[in-house]
Amino acid sequence: MTPQDPSTALRTRTVGDIAATLPGATAIFRKFKIDFCCNGGLTLDGAAQRRGVDPVEVERALDALSTDTGAATAPTAMGSDALIDHIQTRYHEAHRRALPELIALSRKVEAVHREHPRVPAGLADVLRQMESELEQHMAREEATLFPAMRRRSEEGLAVAIGELRHEHDDQGAQLRSLERLTDDFTLPEGACRSWQALYVGTAQLADDLTEHIHLENNILFPRFVTAQSGA
Ligand SMILES: [Fe+2]
Ligand SMILES: [Fe+2]
Repeated sequence: MTPQDPSTALRTRTVGDIAATLPGATAIFRKFKIDFCCNGGLTLDGAAQRRGVDPVEVERALDALSTDTGAATAPTAMGSDALIDHIQTRYHEAHRRALPELIALSRKVEAVHREHPRVPAGLADVLRQMESELEQHMAREEATLFPAMRRRSEEGLAVAIGELRHEHDDQGAQLRSLERLTDDFTLPEGACRSWQALYVGTAQLADDLTEHIHLENNILFPRFVTAQSGA
């Protein structure tokens, strides 16, 4: 590879930056299980190695995206007020709608299939904890952080953003628990409809939350403070 090769350039960029600027990249990162939201500061090379995947394979998939003309507008092109609106309506409200149903479904599946060797024992508890912690986290963003950003007020912003980033790390750990308990959302043979709905819905929640953290950590927050300040 020569230094001019665009793929080489891609591999030395951070995954957070690639996710923020290349439409469709987040789906590729999710497929390869590359963490672009909480560890978005790693280069593509570093992040792929950390995950034990071949960076060449990832860059090949990313390169193919540039020919995809159907890509949506990148959130980086949105103004901050529009981005905040988008985060609230597309993600905060989606989590609030999804979690109660998923908790009910997981309770049912855990009870009915108690004896099944692949039952996701403990999933309802993790989802319930996520619901309560996410609600507090999102309420704080909506009540104090987002209004301050809309006012372009810098007072206390760095400290608040540092704390919210730490909470995003905790949310990232909860996502890993969801993957572990569901065997990466893989259904056992002959799974009933409820079990199917539970894994489809939980995988969607995981995708949404990953994207949500990414939009805040890698696009919205850096517009107001650098990644290091307040962390
Ligand atoms: Fe949020
Ligand atoms: Fe957040």
